[in-house]
Amino acid sequence: MKIVITGSNGLLGQKLLYLLKNRKEVEIFALARGENRLPADKGYTYEAVDIGEEKEVEQVMAKIQPDVIINTAAMTNVDICESKREECWKANVDAVKYLTKAAEKYNSHLIHVSTDFIFDGNPNAKRERYLEDDFPNPVNYYGDSKLAAESIVKKSNCKWAIARTSLVYGIGVNMSRTNIVLWAKGELEKGKQINVVDDQFRSPTLVEDLAQACVLIADKQADGVFHISGRNYMSIYDMALQIAEFYNFDPSLVKSVNTGALKQAAVRPPKTGFIIDKACSVLGYHPHSFEEGIMILDHQMKIMPK
Ligand SMILES: NC(=O)c1ccc[n+]([C@@H]2O[C@H](COP(=O)([O-])OP(=O)(O)OC[C@H]3O[C@@H](n4cnc5c(N)ncnc54)[C@H](OP(=O)(O)O)[C@@H]3O)[C@@H](O)[C@H]2O)c1
Repeated sequence: MKIVITGSNGLLGQKLLYLLKNRKEVEIFALARGENRLPADKGYTYEAVDIGEEKEVEQVMAKIQPDVIINTAAMTNVDICESKREECWKANVDAVKYLTKAAEKYNSHLIHVSTDFIFDGNPNAKRERYLEDDFPNPVNYYGDSKLAAESIVKKSNCKWAIARTSLVYGIGVNMSRTNIVLWAKGELEKGKQINVVDDQFRSPTLVEDLAQACVLIADKQADGVFHISGRNYMSIYDMALQIAEFYNFDPSLVKSVNTGALKQAAVRPPKTGFIIDKACSVLGYHPHSFEEGIMILDHQMKIMPK
């Protein structure tokens, strides 16, 4: 079986690669922009591909003819998506068009990773956590682009699954962006005060759980939309407090602020928790709690080569 992982330099892409590369029955093709930023290149083939370039995608897919494509690549910085709209659309929407075309041509199972940011996170909604079929209504350009991509996938004639996820945390090699646990720990251990929003609620997701869910989708040849997150649902402020508590950092360094105070370029949906029952029952998905996730991450940081 040939599996393509796009975005292999990214956090999720890296974890998928490590999870799958030792499987005997699987041939892995890691696709990313420019150089391979991962140290170990055994057990997979690396291809430098900009997935926003149609010709590049066509050529690499014709060569591989994959059974499964897991699309983790995206422009993921929500604020930059707001200002670099063309670039965002190319990576998040046009690329998905090219990947679905390839999946149709080579009969591949396309597993596309999407986001809770396709929802508006209305704080007054009857239900705070979202189900797979709930009405999407993005509030920023990143959300618009990811919703447009979902729509392309859903209309395609290939076998497809969409794994929507929320506030992913974890550690990888040569990461291009940080996340709540790494950031809060890094600042608090320097004794710095951090301002954290108490009016945005999420279901934080350990990246290993998300990678496992993508593999479960591939193994079970599942189709449709799945909500993939951790079980907990909490404010980002409470996440930071939990991180401070785990490391015995001074909790008074964690200051609660409201979203408006941060003056971010992109609007954030206030409350976007997930109901994950479908993934649990159909896929056998069993995520870690946020507390367990912090412990796992802490262990990884200790054993990681500096
Ligand atoms: N992280 C979260 O909190 C979160 C939440 C909800 C949904 N998601 C979704 O989860 C997926 C994985 O996210 P992640 O956390 O692994 O993000 P990430 O670490 O930012 O990885 C995304 C990767 O995509 C690559 N990429 C961007 N444009 C590309 C292009 N044109 N051609 C080839 N590669 C390109 C980036 O390459 P460079 O490294 O070279 O820039 C990056 O390595 C994404 O689809 C994202 O939308 C993430």
